[in-house]
Amino acid sequence: MDVQEFFFQHYIDLPRQGPGDNQSTIKAFNSIPNEREIKSLLDVGCGTGMQTIQLAKLIHERITAVDFYKPFLDKLELTAKKEKLQEKISTSVQLMEDLEFDDNSFDIIWSEGSIYIIGLEKGLNEWKRFLKPNGYLVYSLICWLKKDIPEELKEFWKIAYPKITDVDSNIDIIVRNGYKVINHFTLPESSWWDNYYNPLLKKLESLDKKYINDPSLSPIIKEAADEIELFRKYSAYYGYEFFIIQKS
Ligand SMILES: C[S@@+](CC[C@H](N)C(=O)[O-])C[C@H]1O[C@@H](n2cnc3c(N)ncnc32)[C@H](O)[C@@H]1O
Repeated sequence: MDVQEFFFQHYIDLPRQGPGDNQSTIKAFNSIPNEREIKSLLDVGCGTGMQTIQLAKLIHERITAVDFYKPFLDKLELTAKKEKLQEKISTSVQLMEDLEFDDNSFDIIWSEGSIYIIGLEKGLNEWKRFLKPNGYLVYSLICWLKKDIPEELKEFWKIAYPKITDVDSNIDIIVRNGYKVINHFTLPESSWWDNYYNPLLKKLESLDKKYINDPSLSPIIKEAADEIELFRKYSAYYGYEFFIIQKS
């Protein structure tokens, strides 16, 4: 089994597959000017869809939720049924690098914690054609929040996400690629712990016991736990920034 498949089989049990919380989803959604009539929303890299469910409670029209891992979408469909939101959410297994939609299809493209996978500039450019004129792209992305980043932290992110940069540089990239910034804000630290790192830590503890003698899995389980400890130590230096931007 490959490493990603191994983790995904366990990440499916977590409330989310990355930092985030419903309050921040609502805050980002409320940044979109009221006069915009929202008829269609695409959620890219939705995972098991905590934010998809929250968004379905906020808009009247249908949401299309895309991920490349089918079991996440199956779980989202189950939750949607439980919440009686199944009429509002349709899911589709797709690669974010190769989305299959008509041009000008969506009023909003939403992507919490996922745009880094395609890469910010590529995502800004390739997803733009799916947005209607003056449509909105709303995403969260890891950013440096301070200067003078400690070496240990720099070294870690140089491998995990080499393109990490500060909020101002992100804004430059956004504007250079034909969007206008409507709002941006930093996710609270609690949204890393409550829905993601704390449940993940529990999971990693049991996996560590189970696979302690497995030379291929034991180091990667430890690596995931190290990432959490790094956040505990250095959370003042980096975080997830929510960006609400408009195609201009
Ligand atoms: C960090 S998680 C974020 C999930 C969710 N948006 C959240 O905030 O909890 C990234 C998601 O992107 C999906 N993903 C990874 N690579 C992908 C790709 N190339 N195309 C589509 N989805 C992908 C993963 O399956 C995962 O659900």
